[in-house]
Amino acid sequence: MANLLGRQLRKPTGIFGRIVAKMMTSRNKAYYSNIIRELAVSPGDRIFEIGYGPGLGVYQIASSGDCTVHGIDFSSLMHKEASRRNRKFISKGQVVLHYGDLLTAKPAHTPYDKVFCVNVVYFWSDLSKAFGCVHAMLAGGGSFLIFMAGSAYLNALPFTSDFCKYSIETVVDTLKSVGFDQVSFTENDGYYVRATRKHP
Ligand SMILES: C[S@@+](CC[C@H](N)C(=O)[O-])C[C@H]1O[C@@H](n2cnc3c(N)ncnc32)[C@H](O)[C@@H]1O
Repeated sequence: MANLLGRQLRKPTGIFGRIVAKMMTSRNKAYYSNIIRELAVSPGDRIFEIGYGPGLGVYQIASSGDCTVHGIDFSSLMHKEASRRNRKFISKGQVVLHYGDLLTAKPAHTPYDKVFCVNVVYFWSDLSKAFGCVHAMLAGGGSFLIFMAGSAYLNALPFTSDFCKYSIETVVDTLKSVGFDQVSFTENDGYYVRATRKHP
């Protein structure tokens, strides 16, 4: 049962996936509020979310005004749910939600000013590859923001045996190794990490 929950968090499917999506929508509100504050959306920003899940973050950012929000998720269930939640923004072209894997997709609208993800890094066994993909999507001076739970917290949960439980040091070092600049983080019920792509 615990492993089933872990698998569903990685890629929600079917009826259980719908339940897990409801759980994520209520549990992760605070993480989204914090990361959206960190994003400091400016008029005209091109923003991209990796692993948007039920689409709550996309909805909140698109509601806040004059920016475009794109994203990718490799769960077809989450693609459907997030598309339903964001249909009014999709119909006017402010939101574009892709169905696919960040690690193999070629996002069509690069570069982005801000890329972010909430509770997704645990599912990337090759962190350098994933961070390299994000680096390539960003404009010079653009930012990548991550929310991730700490490894000690994840270790205490029964359903995380298949998760990659990265330490904050590993995440920071890997970001620097793929070319990010000015990597910093704050701790608040998990870690909010910020990394900037150098200006060309
Ligand atoms: C634990 S859920 C988090 C969902 C949402 N960010 C939240 O916090 O409520 C992880 C999400 O990331 C997606 N995901 C994981 N790895 C991915 C990848 N390589 N490419 C695209 N989506 C991915 C999953 O399908 C899932 O919707």
